[in-house]
Amino acid sequence: MSVSRGGFSSRLGFIMAAAGSAVGLGNIWGFPTQTASNGGAAFVLVYLVLAFFLAYPAFMAELLIGRYGQANAVTSMQKIARNPWQKRFGFAVGFGGIICAALILSFYAIIAGWMMSYAVEPLARLVGLANQADWMVMHSIPRNIFFTATFVGLTIIIIRRGVEQGIEKWSKRLMPMLIALLVLLILYVFTLDGAQAGFAAYLNPDISRVLDPELLISALGQAFFSLSLGTSVMIIYGSYIAKKENLVSLGAQVTLIDVSIAFLAGLLIIPAMYVAQAQGVSIFAEDGSLISGSSLVFTVLPALFANMGAAGLFVAFGFFVLMSIAALTSSISMLEGPVSFAVERHKLARKKATTYIGLVILMLSIVIVLNLSWMLDFVAILSTQYGQPLIAMFCCIFVGWIWHRNDILAEIKQGHLNVENSFFWKIWPWYVKFVCPTAIALVFIHSL
Ligand code: PFF
Repeated sequence: MSVSRGGFSSRLGFIMAAAGSAVGLGNIWGFPTQTASNGGAAFVLVYLVLAFFLAYPAFMAELLIGRYGQANAVTSMQKIARNPWQKRFGFAVGFGGIICAALILSFYAIIAGWMMSYAVEPLARLVGLANQADWMVMHSIPRNIFFTATFVGLTIIIIRRGVEQGIEKWSKRLMPMLIALLVLLILYVFTLDGAQAGFAAYLNPDISRVLDPELLISALGQAFFSLSLGTSVMIIYGSYIAKKENLVSLGAQVTLIDVSIAFLAGLLIIPAMYVAQAQGVSIFAEDGSLISGSSLVFTVLPALFANMGAAGLFVAFGFFVLMSIAALTSSISMLEGPVSFAVERHKLARKKATTYIGLVILMLSIVIVLNLSWMLDFVAILSTQYGQPLIAMFCCIFVGWIWHRNDILAEIKQGHLNVENSFFWKIWPWYVKFVCPTAIALVFIHSL
């Protein structure tokens, strides 16, 4: 690892940072609500299969590119390329990922801003600032701009400090807090009337839906979004891992944490919806489907918290702090991709690059806030439903078809003794060459 460009100081540092990127609003909000509207445990089963059999191998492709290249996404891809055509392809895929990360950050920061405002609201109420508290939950443009800017500001502050003092240190602090808050909230919801019905709905699979194409597409999209694939993030995080580490096992650990936290979030959100229903809060939309998306988080759950009296203020605070932390450990990874590119390719100082790029992204967020009715969905669909699967697929194609098999194996072997006997060694290079791109392409085409 070159000292000048920094890197994770330890295995734990990498695991916390990569899991921090992976675990975000997608796990705690996206996964449970998709599960609720897609046949409960049937969705969970399909998600598990796709996460381990498709997303994890693709995730390994990105980590390996970065660890081999020891550089930003574009430079790492180009180190593997051998001719000008391949270099151009490498540039397009690496740069495409960086743009995708920036686009995701621009809308993610708005939603994270909502989470922060809902976290501050109970505090304001507690100290008697009722008007201010009302303002915080009013979906107004000034409120949105204020909290989006605060959230982007926090992201900038962490990324300015660099890999070890910024990303690693903060991920190591925030991730344990996130897990503790999640477990506490689950235990609390367990004790409430109606939670049992929620567990039943979550854990009983409607097996007839397992092969439903809609469900497959949603589960794959969710798995790719959750592992932050196709955004250059895992390439750059891979580049900060020391050569002595066993990448195959690190990648598997991160996938396991990501999936487990999504599963735990389901144990919180779905029972909470049923508790709300038991208390007379409607959890169904007009067309009879379960409420999901923003109405769930910003209407149903706050109604539930309001019914809890004084305790509700603390629960609401805990829940929205949990959401904000999850979002922050993800947003820092999204900013690191473009920043590392600017620093390494354009020789900008890290602090300057972080501030400039962060402000450009904030500007884009403000444009989205001003056109919220259509632009948020547009940018989200463009980046997550088109950008991420396509770029992840091109990363697999790049590794499978351009990188020499022996060079891939040599990179896997670093830090991984006795690898020759492993299933991964024997199957993965072939798998990432044929199975991953085909499966991603099939699901993608179907989703069109
Ligand atoms: N994995 C994050 C989540 O589940 O919320 C979202 C995400 C992070 C997407 C980083 C893309 C990214 F580059």
